[in-house]
Amino acid sequence: MIYPITVYGDPILRKKTEPITKDFKDLKGFIQNMFDTMYASDGVGLAAPQVGQAIRIFILDSTSTDDEEPEGIKKAFINPQILEKFGDEWVMNEGCLSLPEIREDVQRPESIRIKYMDEDFNEYDETYSGFNSRVIQHEYDHLDGILFVDYLNPLRKRILKTKLTAISKGKVIPKYRIKVPGK
Ligand code: NI
Repeated sequence: MIYPITVYGDPILRKKTEPITKDFKDLKGFIQNMFDTMYASDGVGLAAPQVGQAIRIFILDSTSTDDEEPEGIKKAFINPQILEKFGDEWVMNEGCLSLPEIREDVQRPESIRIKYMDEDFNEYDETYSGFNSRVIQHEYDHLDGILFVDYLNPLRKRILKTKLTAISKGKVIPKYRIKVPGK
């Protein structure tokens, strides 16, 4: 099942998310739907608030990107916790399914150490660098109500204001289905 994507202006994107418990109904089905939704919209990462759920899970699939380093991964991160960010900051031009047609340079640290659970609630403690670390940091931010435009300087934010307002009013037509705020 493909969910509509929530976009800028939807309060769920700014909400505090709750941890997932073992009694969550059909977690594996939900994860599959998240992957279906992400593939249908050509994304490499997707967080639960983007499909209307204020819960702590995001997915990523970097297996089809051209980068050989680091190796691509496909997985769901449940109740993740970034323990450490380290390494030099680097700039990448980021986009987000919840901010259609906006791309901006964002600076983030090279590496992260993250603790999380898989869909069977097995725990992991792993380190990621490069593109995987970049996507993880972006998706993890969604669980804390942070969007990549929050990192931009006041001038860039001012320039984007008209575009952001248009998105929040549904005056944007991406190739995937969106849920217009308040509708
Ligand atoms: Ni995003």
